[in-house]
Amino acid sequence: MKLLTNKTMLVTKTTTLVKTLGLTLSLVVSGALVSNSAFAANAANGKALFTNSKCGTCHGTEIYTSKDRKVKNLKALEAAVRLNDSKLNTNWFDEDVKDVTAYLNQQYYKF
Ligand code: HEC
Repeated sequence: MKLLTNKTMLVTKTTTLVKTLGLTLSLVVSGALVSNSAFAANAANGKALFTNSKCGTCHGTEIYTSKDRKVKNLKALEAAVRLNDSKLNTNWFDEDVKDVTAYLNQQYYKF
């Protein structure tokens, strides 16, 4: 009986250890993915910011994919996001502007 209890404890401890290791490993892997991407900004955060913004009040997303779109590169895209952000007075931080730029690029512009 005592042996069984010890065995159970060992299994529980091992499971916890494996879980902890697994979590650490996935954190390391996701960290590596983020730092390895060519564009370091966080597109997922950009998506959240964009979705919760008033960016859709004057134009929809069709402006980003139109063949007449004016933005021709990543720098111009960031400038456009910055300009439109100031029109809205959203006061995004610099990182936020970069994150939204990354999101729009990933989703629509694909530079
Ligand atoms: C007050 C109205 C208004 C709001 C709000 C607005 N935009 Fe715009 N946006 C415009 C207009 C007008 C243009 C076209 C400007 C031009 O053609 O020179 C434009 C153009 C753009 C472009 C360039 C499109 C192209 O030609 O490639 C981007 C990118 C853009 N907006 C992003 C945003 C984002 C991001 C937000 C939210 C922060 C936003 N806009 C909110 C009016 C607005």
